[in-house]
Parts: sequence; structure tokens; C-alpha cells
Amino acid sequence: MRDSDTGLSLGAWIASVQERVERRLEACLPGAGETPARLHEAMRYAVLGGGKRVRPLLAFAAGEMAGAPLAVLEHAGAAVELIHAYSLVHDDLPCMDDDVLRRGKPTVHVAYDEATALLVGDALQSQAFETLANSGAAPADALAMVGCLARASGSRGMAGGQAIDLASVGSRIARAQLEHMHRLKTGALLTASVMLGALAAGNVTGATEQALLAYARAVGLAFQVVDDILDVETDTVTLGKTAGKDAMQDKPTYVSILGLAESKALAEDLRREAHAALEPLAGRARRLGELADFIVLRKH
Ligand code: IPE
Ligand code: IPE
Ligand code: MG
Ligand code: MG
Ligand code: MG
Repeated sequence: MRDSDTGLSLGAWIASVQERVERRLEACLPGAGETPARLHEAMRYAVLGGGKRVRPLLAFAAGEMAGAPLAVLEHAGAAVELIHAYSLVHDDLPCMDDDVLRRGKPTVHVAYDEATALLVGDALQSQAFETLANSGAAPADALAMVGCLARASGSRGMAGGQAIDLASVGSRIARAQLEHMHRLKTGALLTASVMLGALAAGNVTGATEQALLAYARAVGLAFQVVDDILDVETDTVTLGKTAGKDAMQDKPTYVSILGLAESKALAEDLRREAHAALEPLAGRARRLGELADFIVLRKH
């Protein structure tokens, strides 16, 4: 793929990465018939055949730019997608956002039961690190990748952001707190996706690393700003999840704090910030630039 892919349109490149990642996910998840079959079936239900796969796309775009082996990128992309899928299963539970629809299907606790959904999240998290451990990267790079994904997923990253999100329901938080919450609950895993791609190459340092980090911070925040906007502006069928949930649950979001117009302006500012961060990388970062546009201009 690497030699021929430079000429691919964004759509064709996305489709080819999605297919690779789907195959890796399919291979690393236990078969639906393997005992305990209900748990394994529910894990596959939560992960396979849905989602935009934005996090693996970011890992591939950064990794291809840096010359990382595709096999390592496949494992890194699958690993971050497994963490993301686990976070969605738990995010949808009645004790969190209490959602019944995800990726156009009943949520895991609705299709199965709450205890199974809890265990699906637990098991997907472990599966993510097992997949990363099997990436075939050089030992030092593999260790750095495990550390990167662990930090981004934990209490100083995604899980911490989710804790702030839940603690803020019904309250009016300041804009700085909202930004902090969004950077943790969503930005951390998107930043890790980009950096996993770089770590898979094992040679990204200095100004290139700083450029990737600045880019990732901008798209990471932009992603959740747009998610907040889509919750207000898009319908349930297009989203594949219940529209209007944030207002219904009195969640502090960019829309509730800044309003729709200012939130859209912020998403545009962050898109520009992402492109500006890539300038030192010049033409090498074309896919990353295209993905910044994809993330901000997406309709679901
Ligand atoms: C939704 O993420 C949850 C957030 C972190 C905002 P995505 O919009 O990436 O969901 P899928 O993976 O495409 O379903
Ligand atoms: C979810 O944020 C973030 C994580 C799952 C970590 P949201 O609660 O806004 O995501 P959606 O809108 O349910 O997808
Ligand atoms: Mg939530
Ligand atoms: Mg939610
Ligand atoms: Mg949302």
C-alpha cells in the first residue's frame, strides 16, 4: 500500500485503512463461539462493522508519513480503536449517559445486559494492550507505545475526562474547565493515535514530534467541539446515536457554553491551527491535513 497509496484520493485511502484495521480487529478478537460465548459475541458486536475509525486513520497518516511498517500500524490502529470501543460501551451505560443507540444499533447493555457491557469494556481494554504488545515493533518502541496508550486512556486522560464530564452534569462550568474536560475525555486518545503512528516508526523526534503534537492537540479538541455541535444539529439516523442527548441530560458542552455560532467558529480556528502546525512538515503531512478537514467538516 505504501508506494501506491500516495496517489490515492482521501476516500480511497480511508477505505483501504479501514479495511486493514477491520481485518486486524477481526483477527485479534476471540471468535463468537469461544467460551464464554456471550461475552465474546458482545465484544465483537461492540467493535466490528461500525464507526468511522478516525483514531486508526490518524495513526496511519502519522505513521505512513514517518515510514512506519504497515503491520505495526495495523496493530496500533486496532489497539486504539479497541480502547475507543470500550469507552463507548461504558459511556452508554445507564450509570453514565444512558444511551440506547450506538453506531445505528442498540447499545451493548440493551442488546445484552449491563453486566456483560461492563465486562465487554474491561475485556476490550485488555485486548487493546495485548494487540499492542503483539505489534512486532522493536522492544523499545513497543514499550513506548504501551505507555502512550495507557496514559491516554487512564485517569489523566480519557477516564479522567469522563469523570469530570459526569461530575459536571447540571452545572455551568467555566470555558477553561470545559476545554480541560474535552482535552482529556476525547483529545487524549486522538493525540495518542497520532503519536502511536509516530512511535511505530521509531524515528520521530525534535521538531517533527513537536509539530505532530501541536497538530494532534488541535484536532483532538476540534473533534469533541464538532461532536457537541452534531449532537444539536444532526438527526438520530445520520448520527447513529440519539441526537439532542447533551441538552436532554444538561451536559456542559461547547454549544451550551458558547452557543452554536461561536462553537462553529472555534472548530474552524482549530482546523486552521492544525494546518498551521503541519507547516514545518510541508508536503509530507498531506494526509494529516486532509484528516483535519475530515474531522471538522464531518456530518456524523
Ligand atoms: C464518539 O466518537 C465519541 C467521542 C469521543 C466524541 P466517534 O465519533 O469517533 O465514534 P465512532 O467511532 O465513529 O462511532
Ligand atoms: C464520549 O463523549 C467520550 C468518550 C466515550 C470517552 P460523548 O458522551 O459526547 O460521546 P457520544 O456523543 O455519546 O458519542
Ligand atoms: Mg459521555
Ligand atoms: Mg455519550
Ligand atoms: Mg457527544
